[in-house]
Amino acid sequence: MQTNLRGRDFIGDLDFSKEEVETVLDVAWDLKRKRALGEPHPLLRDKTLAMLFFFTSTRTRGSFEAGMAQLGGHAAFIDSDTTQIAHGDTAKEIGEIFGRYFDGIAIRQCDWQFGNKYINEVARYSRVPVLNMQDDIYHPFQCLADLMTIMEKKGRDLRRRKIVVSWAYAASYSKPISVPQSLILQLTRFGADVVLAHPPEFKLMPEIVEMARENARKYHSGFEIVHDMDEAFKDADVVYPKSWGPLVTTTDKNEGKVLIEKYRDWITDQRRMDLTKEDSIYMHCLPADRNLEVTDEVIDGPHSVVYDEAENRLHVQKAVMALTMS
Ligand code: CP
Repeated sequence: MQTNLRGRDFIGDLDFSKEEVETVLDVAWDLKRKRALGEPHPLLRDKTLAMLFFFTSTRTRGSFEAGMAQLGGHAAFIDSDTTQIAHGDTAKEIGEIFGRYFDGIAIRQCDWQFGNKYINEVARYSRVPVLNMQDDIYHPFQCLADLMTIMEKKGRDLRRRKIVVSWAYAASYSKPISVPQSLILQLTRFGADVVLAHPPEFKLMPEIVEMARENARKYHSGFEIVHDMDEAFKDADVVYPKSWGPLVTTTDKNEGKVLIEKYRDWITDQRRMDLTKEDSIYMHCLPADRNLEVTDEVIDGPHSVVYDEAENRLHVQKAVMALTMS
């Protein structure tokens, strides 16, 4: 496969240009079709991927592991708790050594103390591509799957499509901010009218918001921030409400706990879905806090595309692995 993505890391959403993301999507659709037809596609025969997890996962682990097997290679699950990382192995050791054993290194580390410093440090010392399975700033593979799903449901041209990335109430007050950050960064490159909705205290990182604004200017997309969930949902084509923690939880967890209780009514229910367009779609990266973030009626209802969205993790990840690791 001839492409300039060979050997490249994928850590932040903007590491690949808009055109390169389009290529990833083309390959993902081709691989999805091949899988549906039962056509073998061993693009990574005899290749190996290290999957280093510092944080739990259902979809990410399952889809990377299944994806590598379907591409003819092997993914090794490495749980950080059972490595020597606690006894001295640094990011340099992981990059240098796993870079010699494996053909790619995928890492999930969602810890505000590190941001994305750890994964960048591994990448600095690795001779093979480093793939971000989610850090505390970005969740780029989730976002590619989301983009693929939106285009499948709404068409590839997203201009004038109102896409709402909204905060939602959840039992936990400190869910990662990486998903909404990746969404506003990537979607503003595709011409959509992106609306970010959250209570005033649940801001995203200012530098990420500024990058989204710059994208919107460059790609003639819409980007606005509102603090009212009903206003955001009105006439939306796509709603993507999920919980995230306030930035203050990085210094004062109690403050976060008190804050979140003020916004219990930020739930996606049928009344709110009725504010959206008749053919709107409801998205969530999962896991969702059922009947706190979203009612069963909505997540199991006709607008919901959450299982197609989860499936597309497999296809976009296979595409990126094939393009970067082959
Ligand atoms: N959406 C997502 O990343 O799911 P997991 O946390 O289960 O991997």
